[in-house]
Order: sequence, then structure tokens, then C-alpha cells
Amino acid sequence: MLKRFWLWLGRLLGKLLFTVVLVGLVGWGLGEAYYAWKFSGPVSTQEQIAPDEKALTRLIIEDAVRIVEQHRDNTRVLRDAHAKAHGCVKAEVQVLDTLDESLRQGVFSEPGHTWQAWMRLSNGNAYPQFDRARDARGMAIKLLDVPGKKLMKSPVHAGEQDFVMFNHPAFFVRDVAEYRTNFAAQADGKKVQAFFPSWDPRTWEARHLIIALKTLAPAPESPVATTYNSIAPFKLGELNIKYRVVPAPQNCPPYELPEQNTDLPNFLRNALYQQLSLDRAPACFELQVQKQNAQYYMPIEDPTVEWSEKISPFESVARITVQPQDFDSREQNLFCDNLSFNPWHALPEHRPIGGINRLRKSVYEAVSAYRHQRNAPALANAAPQPVTQETEVELSQ
Ligand code: HEM
Repeated sequence: MLKRFWLWLGRLLGKLLFTVVLVGLVGWGLGEAYYAWKFSGPVSTQEQIAPDEKALTRLIIEDAVRIVEQHRDNTRVLRDAHAKAHGCVKAEVQVLDTLDESLRQGVFSEPGHTWQAWMRLSNGNAYPQFDRARDARGMAIKLLDVPGKKLMKSPVHAGEQDFVMFNHPAFFVRDVAEYRTNFAAQADGKKVQAFFPSWDPRTWEARHLIIALKTLAPAPESPVATTYNSIAPFKLGELNIKYRVVPAPQNCPPYELPEQNTDLPNFLRNALYQQLSLDRAPACFELQVQKQNAQYYMPIEDPTVEWSEKISPFESVARITVQPQDFDSREQNLFCDNLSFNPWHALPEHRPIGGINRLRKSVYEAVSAYRHQRNAPALANAAPQPVTQETEVELSQ
């Protein structure tokens, strides 16, 4: 009797498992077919601006400032995103000698030219947490003393060309409208509603949820050992491109990072310190661009879609070298905290394009202005030499 029961239960579970696998496979196949149909070219090479974008941007700024206040630590107002830095390091960005004529635009117009730069490496989260927590990792580069009129008028940033990236190739929202819904839900702690805002299945964004989950990845062994992507598109002269920074150990003397204790809260800073300050070993990268081929599904207005590398492979435009250095001082960490990166600190040849980039312009500016204004009194009390916006320029030379 008992034996028959177990056999019956085994058959039932077997059938159940089979059904679940079958339904999963059919669902996956249908999903693939749907997206192959939906994501087929050609696409526009021009930006398309929704009429409500400006109004939504204002609401997002209000939410962002609210979040910054919620997450402020005891003494300082931190960034609304990428609050925790592993360090700010000096870098050299050298345009390739052999750069193709079509890519010689803006800061890449002179082959062989070397730009001095600051590079800030960060965790993506809105407040600092242990490095082993799943998260995106950011890299922001600021080229210095770049001549020419910039897209933003601020005299403080007049000589800067910024590149702002993180280490996942796709963004988890499509446009400004979705960002507003998603961000407002997350700000209220309603994580499920961020991707499933109503009972209407047409508003569900399961694919974007998967991107968000993949973005929150385990930490790399070091901040200089992962690839950072622009995700959103940019101009490069007349071209539309995305860019990324890939580690290029082949351009550096061989170096192996000793194993780090990943239980330590700041092991990514420790890894950077070990390589650059203790072992005095440089870190090398290449800056690469990927051209839009508008015959295929490489949209400007949807950064949740990766542009196919098979159709349009990335091409190197510059080498980045981070020389051995001592970066982990109180002054430099404070200086780093007071830097402001913004993809719109840029020459017109590198103009950010697409809705998510248009949104970033005023949000980054507003949050940066807010935290600088709120931190100014604390700075005056705490730092022997207050790092004001004027000293920011001085230090950056
Ligand atoms: C393509 C997508 C994006 C990428 C690659 C990206 C990357 C980054 C990185 C690396 C930083 C840190 C910069 C630093 O080291 O100072 C940052 C900061 C920030 N990001 Fe984004 N981000 C993206 C989209 C967005 C969007 C859509 C928003 C909101 C509208 C946003 C809001 C911010 C804010 C407010 C800061 C802090 C600015 C400051 O206080 O100086 N980001 N982002």
C-alpha cells in the first residue's frame, strides 16, 4: 500500500516537473520570438522627445533630492547614486596614433594626444554598503583642460569632458516616463510596483526587472578589473555611438592582484590601494566606441536594448593608463567627494542623446548643486582647506 502511494507520488511529481519545464521552454521561446519581432530594424538616427518630458523631469528632480536627504550620513549629503567611492585616481587618456579618420572627433581629433584626467570608481547604490553586496560599479572620467565651448555653461566645468559609465551594458528603464514611475515606486520602498505598476499586464516590465537584477551583480575582484559601459548613446561628430572602457592588461607590465579579503567592507578600495600604492603596478584600459547601424535595431531612445556587437563591434579610440600613485589621503577623498561628473560636461561633438541622457542633464546638475550647497558649512568646519568650487578647478590642473 505504502509502496503504491510512493510510486503514485513520484509519477505525479515527475509530471508536474515536466509540465513546469515545458511551460517554461514554451514561454521562453515565445518571448524570444516576440522580442525578435519587436526589436527588428530599421530605427531612427534622430532623437524623439515626448511632450511631457520636461514636466516629468521636474518631478524626478524632486524625488531625487528627497532620496538624497533620506540617505545623508551623519556629516555629509552624498550623491543620489554611486554614493560610495573606492577612490579618485589620476589617469592619462591617450588617443590612438592609428585612429581611423571617421573617429577623429572632439577630444579624439588629434591622434597621439594625451589628456590628463580624474577617474572616480564607485558602487552604484544610493548609500554606502559593504562591497560584497550585489550592485553596479561605476567609473566616471573627467578629462581636464579641454579647450572649446561646452554644452553646459558653468565656468567651473568649462575645461572638462566627462565620460560616465557603469558595468552593465543595458539600463533597466526605457524612457523618462518609465523612470518616473519606477523611481517614485522605489523611493516609497515598493520594489514590485516599480516593474509591475498596475494590474494591467500591458504595464508590466518583466524584461526590465531581469536587467535590473542582472545589474546588481557580485563585485569584481578589483574596480580596475571590469568593463564599464556608457549604456546610453552619444554623438561622435555626425555619428551616433555608445562607448565603453575595457581593462587592457596587455598594455601594462604583467601583474597579478593578491587575493583580497572580500569580507572587509571596503575590499574594492583595498584592491586599488594594493595595486597602485603598495605594489606600484599601473592599471590599463582601452576606451572604445560602437557605431549605430540604423538598418538594425539599435535605438537611440531605448537604453534597455544593447546594440549588437556582431553587427557593430566596438573599436578602440584611446588608451587609458592609471599610473602607480598614492590616492587614499583625506584631502583627495574629500576632493573626490566634491567632484561633479555629468555626461553633459562635454563638447558638442560628444553630445549625449536619447531620453535617459536628456533626463540626466538636469538631475545630475540639481543633485550636485544641492549636495554642494548642503555640505558647504560642514566643509568649512571639518577641512583644514575647504574644497570649494574654485579650489576644485585649482586641484584639477
Ligand atoms: C546610462 C545610464 C546611467 C549611467 C551609466 C550612470 C552612471 C552614473 C555614475 C557612474 C555616477 C557616479 C558619478 C561620479 O563618480 O560622481 C552617477 C551619478 C549619478 N547618477 Fe547616474 N547613471 C545613469 C543614469 C542615471 C539616471 C537616469 C539618473 C536619474 C535621472 C541618474 C542619476 C544620477 C545622479 C543624481 C548622480 C549623482 C550626481 C552628483 O551628485 O554629482 N543616473 N551615475
